[in-house]
Amino acid sequence: MPVITEIADLKRLHERRSPRMFYDYCESGSWTEQTFRENTNDFAQLRFRQKVAVDMSNRSVAGRMLGREVAMPVALAPVGLMGMQRADGEIKAARAAKAFGVPYTLSTMSISSIEDVAEHAGPGFWFQLYVMTDEAFVDAIIERAKRAGCSALVLTLDLQALGQRHKDLKNDMTAPPRLTLKNLLNIATKPRWALEMLGTPRRSFGNIVGHAEGVTGMNNLMHWTAEQFDLTLDWEKVRRIKDKWGGPFVLKGILDAGDALAAAELGADAIIVSNHGGRQLDGALSSIRILPSVVRALEGHPNRPEIWLDSGIRSGQDILKAIALGADATMIGRAYVYGLGAMGEAGVTKALEILRKELDLSMAFCGHRRLEQVTRDILLVPQDFEGRWDRPLDPAR
Ligand code: GLV
Repeated sequence: MPVITEIADLKRLHERRSPRMFYDYCESGSWTEQTFRENTNDFAQLRFRQKVAVDMSNRSVAGRMLGREVAMPVALAPVGLMGMQRADGEIKAARAAKAFGVPYTLSTMSISSIEDVAEHAGPGFWFQLYVMTDEAFVDAIIERAKRAGCSALVLTLDLQALGQRHKDLKNDMTAPPRLTLKNLLNIATKPRWALEMLGTPRRSFGNIVGHAEGVTGMNNLMHWTAEQFDLTLDWEKVRRIKDKWGGPFVLKGILDAGDALAAAELGADAIIVSNHGGRQLDGALSSIRILPSVVRALEGHPNRPEIWLDSGIRSGQDILKAIALGADATMIGRAYVYGLGAMGEAGVTKALEILRKELDLSMAFCGHRRLEQVTRDILLVPQDFEGRWDRPLDPAR
């Protein structure tokens, strides 16, 4: 068994153990992948200021998200097709998150259904919604999430259409994979994955097949999803969904101070500064560069939502940097998917443990014992970190 000490170890194992098309699905950005790369590279531009001779006993990285205590301010982001990285992947990740004490978000495009995850991992997880043109489907899935005991709705705003990821097209990625010679040869080198997958009934999109009008299996599912993402989604529809849900409401995919203000006006409980892990608008700035402008724009707002950040976090140091730049909390995607693909539930737990240790010690080296004490003071931020553009990122400036 290889010794796992960092997220990169889990990534290497994930690559070795999951079929190529699913590893590639996780490890890709749209088009040139510029934004995908910059998400991680920009974290590396920020440096810490070390503080010595400060008592570092009795530390805690606990925090709060949506008013609830969390073991650290890190939620598992919604990721499609997790049950293809590893059999029953969503259930495994939800269990690991619950045991660790952080929130798990189930994607609309998951393999295990909402009901299945609630039954096997317990209620309380969050549900991520894509708005589809089939309103009856949207209304029904919101009801299903309520009935299953989901404790927040995360509405994704940046995927009304899919950014093109070349690898998925070249790999002809489907769930389950088509049994072509190329796929069979690749799967033959992943015996553990194949055995587990043969032992589970969960191999297609569990929230959709059998729930959407006319969707009975793979052939009509692909057609349905391609047509269904709602191109007409606007703030009015967002409000309708918020009212329909009636509980804690999170908006994901905010990259603009004006949009952050609109989300606050609407009464969102949290917003996620996110470029969808670089998978949608290639050429957009990294989330970490946008974050300070969103924080400034919402300063003192009477409905200020919690501000979270995702896209590019691969270490506890990255989490600390996001918090220092004003995020109340963060979300991770690939960092835990690597763990799942590498080692199933234990791998997700391992990823969370690695991140917590890195976060905790880095916070201490910067002279703090609690995350609420952390401010921008712990950072050295390059003078042009937010960039010099032809217009300010937050117009109020
Ligand atoms: C869906 O959310 C995707 O990024 O593939």
